[in-house]
Amino acid sequence: MLSACGSSSDTADKTGPAVVFSELQMDRLLRHSKDELVPVDPSNIHADDEAAAQMGQFLFFDTQLSGSGEFSCDTCHQPENGFADTVPLSEAVGITDRNTPTILNTVYNRWFYWDGRCDTHWCQALSPLEATNEHGTNRLAVAHRIQRSDELTEAYSLLFDDLPDLSDTDRFPLNAMPVEDNEDDPLHRAWSDMTPEDQDTINIIFSNIGKTIAAYERKLIRLDSPFDEMVLELEAGNNTGGDALSPSAKRGAQLFVGEGMCWTCHSGPTFTNKEFHNIALPDSDDIDNASLGRYDGIQSLRDNMWRSDGLYSDSPENPAIIEKVSHLVLGPEQVGQFKTPSLRNLVKTAPYMHGGHFPTLFEAVDHYNKMDAPPRVGHREEFLLPLFWSEEQVRDVVAMLVALEGEPLDASLMEAPSSPLLP
Ligand code: HEC
Ligand code: HEC
Repeated sequence: MLSACGSSSDTADKTGPAVVFSELQMDRLLRHSKDELVPVDPSNIHADDEAAAQMGQFLFFDTQLSGSGEFSCDTCHQPENGFADTVPLSEAVGITDRNTPTILNTVYNRWFYWDGRCDTHWCQALSPLEATNEHGTNRLAVAHRIQRSDELTEAYSLLFDDLPDLSDTDRFPLNAMPVEDNEDDPLHRAWSDMTPEDQDTINIIFSNIGKTIAAYERKLIRLDSPFDEMVLELEAGNNTGGDALSPSAKRGAQLFVGEGMCWTCHSGPTFTNKEFHNIALPDSDDIDNASLGRYDGIQSLRDNMWRSDGLYSDSPENPAIIEKVSHLVLGPEQVGQFKTPSLRNLVKTAPYMHGGHFPTLFEAVDHYNKMDAPPRVGHREEFLLPLFWSEEQVRDVVAMLVALEGEPLDASLMEAPSSPLLP
């Protein structure tokens, strides 16, 4: 009993006393029912278009899109590792500043990135392409990549207007992009030499590329887990929650919606309130521990040309979009806040937290147990207090988190398609 290993196959747990959920616990657990409508994205009219998703899936795995021809989105978002990777920081052309999050279930996101500096999938997809530590390419090179391939040119033209002729490299240099913080950068100078009309032509192509990748990412939904089976039992009035979870995982669920208060931030079907909090993480050797998190993220989003209410959005005046961006109010409480991540499908995505602080789920949960130091910047969320749980209680919560592993995705979504065109 004492050395309970916390895995769902633990025989000691199976023979232990049956767990019965109270009315209150059932009510709170039912709020995590997986029935969540896939949100529409009014900023991208191709969001749910199969042909766009096909082209986007091709580009997601396309190393020709990167500056060196070596990297693609799946360098870091590896399908076999829950669309994340296994290291604290990832490496492509350079090293990332933060831990790579999963792309699974990001269709439910409200904000993108740990600091929310993008408000749509397609805004997000464009940033790694031009980031010097990720794909290390630029919007002109991306447009030329499309033009060099007959299939990509055809796929593009079927979805959007015909791809403009980019062959005059005096007008459309092979490499150029705006570099706001370094006007002497040759890429910036090449960009500045273009006419505003030609710049706009390229921005349209580039944003459309992002919209196809977004259409693919929206299909990466992975929900059906043992936990969801338990919720169905609770919904049917069975207060033991059926057999899908071990007693240990069920006790973990009780702690999760009980004294752990986890459900207040990790709420709803994807176990996130989609907002930002400062949970007083300890310093990590790998990252800039003084990063301001959401405080910087809001400013960066305000300046982002790919915003959902910007020039390249398909419906910048949509009321839902206006409502969302009106939340971009800056305040001191945002210092050191990061986005509440989903807790689904965590088994393969270690290490955890925005800096990959903890190598195991046990250590990630144990953080809430101790929380022994104030954060480097900002203030800890006030209602977060050390839980002083026993090791067994922490293991119970981990067992519950493990029970959030969904059914595998359709294999066809996990690999590069042979063509950007629908079969
Ligand atoms: C070199 C590794 C690397 C590459 C290549 C890369 N990413 Fe990422 N990705 C990251 C990291 C690291 C973050 C988190 C960065 C942050 O929040 O500051 C991230 C964040 C994201 C997010 C946000 C998830 C969320 O919940 O907020 C999405 C979506 C995403 N990447 C998609 C892509 C796509 C699409 C591509 C290809 C165009 C790509 N990534 C290429 C490392 C990478
Ligand atoms: C105040 C809101 C809040 C509460 C309460 C809360 N969390 Fe979190 N959780 C977060 C935020 C924010 C992060 C990301 C922090 C970061 O990386 O800076 C996070 C990260 C995590 C992670 C890492 C996930 C990943 O992909 O890296 C786990 C696991 C986790 N929380 C579990 C729990 C558990 C279990 C509880 C209850 C004991 C709990 N959380 C309570 C806000 C909260």
